[in-house]
Amino acid sequence: MVWVGTARARAKINLTLHIIGRREDGYHNLESLVAFANVCDDLRLVEGSRLSLTVSGPEASSLTDEKNNHILKAAMALAEHVPHLRTGAFHLTKRLPIASGMGGGSADAAAALRLLARLNDLTLQHPAILDAARNTGADVPVCLEGTSRIMRGIGDHLDEPVHLPRLFAVLVNPRRGSSTPAVFSKIGLTRGDVGSSSKHPCIVGGLTAPALLSRLAEGRNDMEAAAISLEPEIGAVRDALSALTTCRLVRMSGSGATVFGLFDDCRAAARASKMLKVLNPSWWVRSTTLA
Ligand code: C5P
Repeated sequence: MVWVGTARARAKINLTLHIIGRREDGYHNLESLVAFANVCDDLRLVEGSRLSLTVSGPEASSLTDEKNNHILKAAMALAEHVPHLRTGAFHLTKRLPIASGMGGGSADAAAALRLLARLNDLTLQHPAILDAARNTGADVPVCLEGTSRIMRGIGDHLDEPVHLPRLFAVLVNPRRGSSTPAVFSKIGLTRGDVGSSSKHPCIVGGLTAPALLSRLAEGRNDMEAAAISLEPEIGAVRDALSALTTCRLVRMSGSGATVFGLFDDCRAAARASKMLKVLNPSWWVRSTTLA
């Protein structure tokens, strides 16, 4: 019997993103509370003698450079550490817009590592899995387990998972890609510079949703202003969400261009999503839960 496995690659949402400073190697140290949405790509692996990748789904056409895909990068990074790694044919159903601040590529890579871990009897804490995750991209480690937590450093230091109340969100992407290096470069920190000085809000498990919302309101996404100056449509999305009286918090995720709004319940989120789709049919809009 041929081994077949499937994994979900859920969208990663940065509920906060504070830039602590720029390292001597050019990367930025961050402090970011990450949660995961109920919208995802799906990945399937059929064991075989050759590592390969095919893609389908509504966003497949935007993935033009399959050889450079994070899934293959992660598998090859793992193969460097694990002799005789069992791999095979991956098939990705791509639903998340690319370069959107939701870590789609990182979530895909993490899903690939979860499947390869299962196939090769490795735990997710195995040093080879963790190394492959880190070597594939800064957001891959946090996507491995896909649980809400604060990530630090360049994403390589993960706090213990923090149990968050379920949040009701609308995710809006204006269908403009946002380049992470371009946004960091616009922020303009030089190597060794310190970033924003204000403290990250204290996030502990067991908060109620209103308490979490007020803590989140004390936080920020330090990449937002730079991303909006490069892509003003992100500002238009912000304005559209902020104009909704039921929306409790509006913030960009990652380096954009996706912006999320948080609502009291799923009905308010669903109504907002419907309205935004009517107002802006070209935008990608999804109501979802975050946890
Ligand atoms: O790791 P990832 O592919 O997401 O990063 C893309 C680029 O963004 C990096 O090459 C780097 O220029 C920048 N980056 C950074 N600091 C981080 C993450 C990414 O400067 N913490």
